[in-house]
Amino acid sequence: MKKGYFITFEGGEACGKSTQINMLKKMIESSPYKDKFVFVRDPGQSPLGEEIRKIILFAKDTPNPITELFLYLASRVELCEKIIKPALNEGKIVISDRFYDSTIAYQGYARNILPIKEVLHLAKMSSIGLTPDLTFYLNLSPVEAFKRKGNSVLDRMELEGETFHLKVKNGYDNIAKKNKKRIINIDASKSPENIFEIITNIIKDKTKINL
Ligand code: TMP
Repeated sequence: MKKGYFITFEGGEACGKSTQINMLKKMIESSPYKDKFVFVRDPGQSPLGEEIRKIILFAKDTPNPITELFLYLASRVELCEKIIKPALNEGKIVISDRFYDSTIAYQGYARNILPIKEVLHLAKMSSIGLTPDLTFYLNLSPVEAFKRKGNSVLDRMELEGETFHLKVKNGYDNIAKKNKKRIINIDASKSPENIFEIITNIIKDKTKINL
């Protein structure tokens, strides 16, 4: 029986979600509410999920798109069953770097391998009934985003072309429009400090925790 609160961060590559999550972690670690929060990442976090993450992002043998879809789903089942569900049942606030909206945007809208309805069904199945209470979508154009990447080493998804990443953005825009109550659409071209203020104010308001 869920008692906690579930927050996810979503967006395309280099949208600034890791920066925001790291700023949040730092703020929470020095607060009295340190033990109330659990940070996770999708794909990954569970031991098996981290193995799957390496395969998805760095395997030499490019997976078939359906294989890719099932690998993301498999990692999420492990994450939900072994980490998120128990934490929510204990009343924790779980913050996840990506969740099933990523599957809908990347495998659904961008890969376009199955009708969105079917990807949505599979994505929900992988979350074993868990739905985020609140999602921050950091909305940034892929052209802007890749300027931020500079010379860093890119994984297999980041190496997809501009058309693919434009489809991801279009996917997220659609998902955000359809889930206005849950998803906060944030202009990610704003400064990190500005975005952080928006995010922390909303978290304080929703969780009633005065960070
Ligand atoms: P990141 O967590 O470091 O952003 O990298 C994960 C990559 O995997 C990123 O390119 C988005 C992609 N992804 C999917 O394609 N589908 C999914 O369901 C998830 C969770 C991530």
